[in-house]
Amino acid sequence: MALSSWKSWAFLVVLSLLRLASRVNGVCECGYSVNSTSDPEYAVFTDLLESDFTRIKNFEDDTDWQPQVWELDPVAALGPYGRATRLQAIVPNPAVNLSINSKGIYGGHAGLNLLVPRNYTVIKGEKYLIGAELDSTRNDMFYGTFRIGYRTTKWPGTCFGFYWYHDDNQEIDIELLSRQINATHTLLNLVLHTPVGGSNLDALPGTFEVAAIPYNSSAEIHELRFDWTPTAITWYHDGQQVWTISNATLFPLEPGHLVITHWSNGNSLWSGGPPEGNAALLLTYVKAYFNSSDVQRQMDHEVRCQAVGGSDDRICEIPTQKGPPRYDGVKVGELPYFFSNDQARNATFNQTVYEDVKKSEGEKAGGAGYGHGAGWAQAAQCSVALWMVFLVLMPMVGGVMRFV
Ligand SMILES: *[C@@H]1O[C@H](CO)[C@@H](O)[C@H](O)[C@H]1NC(C)=O
Ligand SMILES: *[C@@H]1O[C@H](CO)[C@@H](O)[C@H](O)[C@H]1NC(C)=O
Ligand SMILES: *[C@@H]1O[C@H](CO)[C@@H](O)[C@H](O)[C@H]1NC(C)=O
Ligand SMILES: *[C@@H]1O[C@H](CO)[C@@H](O)[C@H](O)[C@H]1NC(C)=O
Ligand SMILES: *[C@@H]1O[C@H](CO)[C@@H](O)[C@H](O)[C@H]1NC(C)=O
Ligand SMILES: *[C@@H]1O[C@H](CO)[C@@H](O)[C@H](O)[C@H]1NC(C)=O
Ligand SMILES: *[C@@H]1O[C@H](CO)[C@@H](O)[C@H](O)[C@H]1NC(C)=O
Ligand SMILES: *[C@@H]1O[C@H](CO)[C@@H](O)[C@H](O)[C@H]1NC(C)=O
Ligand SMILES: *[C@@H]1O[C@H](CO)[C@@H](O)[C@H](O)[C@H]1NC(C)=O
Repeated sequence: MALSSWKSWAFLVVLSLLRLASRVNGVCECGYSVNSTSDPEYAVFTDLLESDFTRIKNFEDDTDWQPQVWELDPVAALGPYGRATRLQAIVPNPAVNLSINSKGIYGGHAGLNLLVPRNYTVIKGEKYLIGAELDSTRNDMFYGTFRIGYRTTKWPGTCFGFYWYHDDNQEIDIELLSRQINATHTLLNLVLHTPVGGSNLDALPGTFEVAAIPYNSSAEIHELRFDWTPTAITWYHDGQQVWTISNATLFPLEPGHLVITHWSNGNSLWSGGPPEGNAALLLTYVKAYFNSSDVQRQMDHEVRCQAVGGSDDRICEIPTQKGPPRYDGVKVGELPYFFSNDQARNATFNQTVYEDVKKSEGEKAGGAGYGHGAGWAQAAQCSVALWMVFLVLMPMVGGVMRFV
């Protein structure tokens, strides 16, 4: 009798310890929340896309992103120069020591560099400036919190864009012009392109804001962020709210994808430039937690959440970045957090598309519903060769460290 009651007591203790462990170290089958689910206001998202760019060696392995290659002639680009995006303008500089060190293998800070060389390139007799663009492969994002760790170039004359995009009338935008940086401040151009009319040129009143943040954003790494829920679109810098819109008639109605761009067309009204030096935008991460418009992804979430009882304990709170993300001289636990890097926690099992794709060696990237992966995989195979060609054609691009 005594033994069996001791046993059932022990069983209860073990059970509650297990429950506690799952609360602290739980996996995230039911999603990711901004604020805790016990807070007065919170938002839950079912899917995630996390890219720790300080770890990426071969960018072509990262099937979450599709580097763009296109050209806009000077007339279409609205500048004295045309715009051309190239794979060679996307240069990874992975950390020497992944566990602690922010230093990249090429020197400087680890991360992914998006380059805008100072010199123009002649294509079909016209002058173009080279830039870089990454589009997320996931094109099914509807509501979410979208975050990027970045450090801008110190050279005036480029535009860094980080935005969610469906079309020109459904877009949530941040644009940062390097000519709008001074020793103490950086201007953030925040725009909501709305379904009721109003893109760049004819933005509706209340859909465009210029916010000054008290940093020279080319000096260290910061985080830009925007959250989109049914009731608000809110922009943040280093975790501090900078602007919000709550008129939901202005919000996007269809799903879209993320875009990261670094470019110049020499137009003094916007990007300015060309930059007087080789300009590098440094990206250390993207963290996106979002809902999917894809019925299959919705069902996957439902199945994995119901399998563990559909409990709030299986919703993981997304840590809020407070202040600039820190890398130098910090302990591992103080580096920016990624659920998908947290192997002890095993939080994102069977949830991330990138992992699945790597396992199946890229096959899934070309599949229906997740963009034009096959084309990108093909382009990626020649990227080393193209980089060499780029070096020969554009000898001033001597390597990543000449870009700042
Ligand atoms: C999170 O909580 C803060 C207040 O602490 C609130 O301003 C914000 O809107 C909340 N976010 C969401 C997505 O509910
Ligand atoms: C990386 O840094 C950690 C912490 O300082 C250290 O323990 C480890 O030996 C380093 N690894 C390498 C390969 O240098
Ligand atoms: C911003 O900081 C960088 C790095 O310290 C420096 O090179 C640059 O000149 C600064 N920009 C301005 C406008 O002061
Ligand atoms: C730097 O930019 C901020 C924001 O635009 C502005 O208020 C400030 O006067 C500028 N500082 C200098 C020295 O021009
Ligand atoms: C995202 O989808 C989940 C599952 O359908 C839902 O519970 C949640 O409220 C949605 N999030 C937002 C911000 O609407
Ligand atoms: C919301 O935006 C629409 C479209 O511009 C406008 O007609 C409406 O008056 C706005 N509502 C509020 C409460 O401002
Ligand atoms: C991964 O998720 C899919 C979709 O819900 C499910 O069919 C599959 O069984 C899961 N795989 C594992 C190993 O849990
Ligand atoms: C992660 O969790 C899944 C499901 O419980 C399990 O199958 C898998 O082996 C775990 N992986 C690791 C590395 O612990
Ligand atoms: C790039 O432009 C600068 C300034 O016009 C010029 O001095 C330099 O020779 C150019 N470099 C190349 C490789 O064309």
